[in-house]
Amino acid sequence: MDVTADPLSLLRARTSEKWRSYPDDVLPLFVAEMDYPLAEPIAEAVVEAVRRSDTGYIGPVNQIADAFAGFAERRWGWQVDPGQVGTTTDVSVAIVETLRRVIQPGDAVVINPPVYPPFFDLVPEAGGVALEVPLLHGPAGWFLDLEGLEHAFAGGARAFLLCNPHNPLGHPQSAQDLTAVAELAARYGVAVISDEVHAPLTHTDGAFTPYLSVSPEARETGICVTSASKGWNLAGLKCALMVTASERMRPVVAGMPQEVNWRTSQLGLIASVAAFSDAEAWLDGVIAAVEANRSLLAQLLETQLPGVGYEQPRASYLAWLDFRRLGWGDDPAAAALERAKVALHPGPLFGGQGRGFARLNFACSPEVLGEAVSRLAAK
Ligand SMILES: Cc1ncc(COP(=O)(O)O)c(C=O)c1O
Repeated sequence: MDVTADPLSLLRARTSEKWRSYPDDVLPLFVAEMDYPLAEPIAEAVVEAVRRSDTGYIGPVNQIADAFAGFAERRWGWQVDPGQVGTTTDVSVAIVETLRRVIQPGDAVVINPPVYPPFFDLVPEAGGVALEVPLLHGPAGWFLDLEGLEHAFAGGARAFLLCNPHNPLGHPQSAQDLTAVAELAARYGVAVISDEVHAPLTHTDGAFTPYLSVSPEARETGICVTSASKGWNLAGLKCALMVTASERMRPVVAGMPQEVNWRTSQLGLIASVAAFSDAEAWLDGVIAAVEANRSLLAQLLETQLPGVGYEQPRASYLAWLDFRRLGWGDDPAAAALERAKVALHPGPLFGGQGRGFARLNFACSPEVLGEAVSRLAAK
């Protein structure tokens, strides 16, 4: 299915963060929202729910667990036990609610910068202290620092907040690394909260591996938190999933007060069921559009801004751009906004490793992407 971004005239009528944070002369390529129109089965399901005034609390019996299990099986060959799927408001809430049940106040929680900025806030919100084990980069690309992780786990870290695929790098963690993480986590008694919200957007040349699928040790130590919010652009509808796969981890989610579950939005749940069950053709269309923009961005940078470092991601629609050779300072996004009227996400928010970097969201039309790079090049 062909999926094309809405024109700017329609996009500017949206009232979400992406479209209301800056004046109209700024091209917004910062927050992770996509410019594609909603998948028709999702739009229909939500509109029908509104039309029948089905806007109460989520029901005790619903289809979300089966819908996600079906999707996970078809997409990744991962067998999810629908009896071990819980829901809550969004992935951020899922992270805090799971994390606070596997740590004691003051415990260290490992994160891998450069990483999704809210991780730095969600860990203390859950009572933990963020312990940074940066990702490493070699000739074959990004990878987890297994020695650094072992050192942190042996030093007393009680949990690991993993990002797979990784935001902002669009890097799906390798099965080999995940297997090694699970062994270490089991050895040192560390709980792994695996944020897999970008997984549905894995590219055709990327390989996503669900943490809970890699080994018995992973199932003993892990909880997957995920949502249809990134894959189908449903962040405003508020519904996320928490998945366990062992008797050891089951009570962490199953034992949550019912209120955590009730905070799932009814419309979010209805939309997510439609996404996981009926909107895979749309998702494949988005992936094709995103992959085309991923390559287009490489060409545009090569011809117009050759000093910018860019490694094409293998998942999602975020580009981690290295401006250090251009001398745009620690926060190139500030210069981009001021002088080129392009809003990027500031690299330093992703941790100290982000100095001199900015994140660009290319889930837009090729025209908007072209215009953004021309503006940056003319700066
Ligand atoms: C890695 C990661 N986790 C969580 C979220 C937030 O998800 P939600 O809107 O469901 O809280 C995002 C949003 O971009 C993300 O990139």
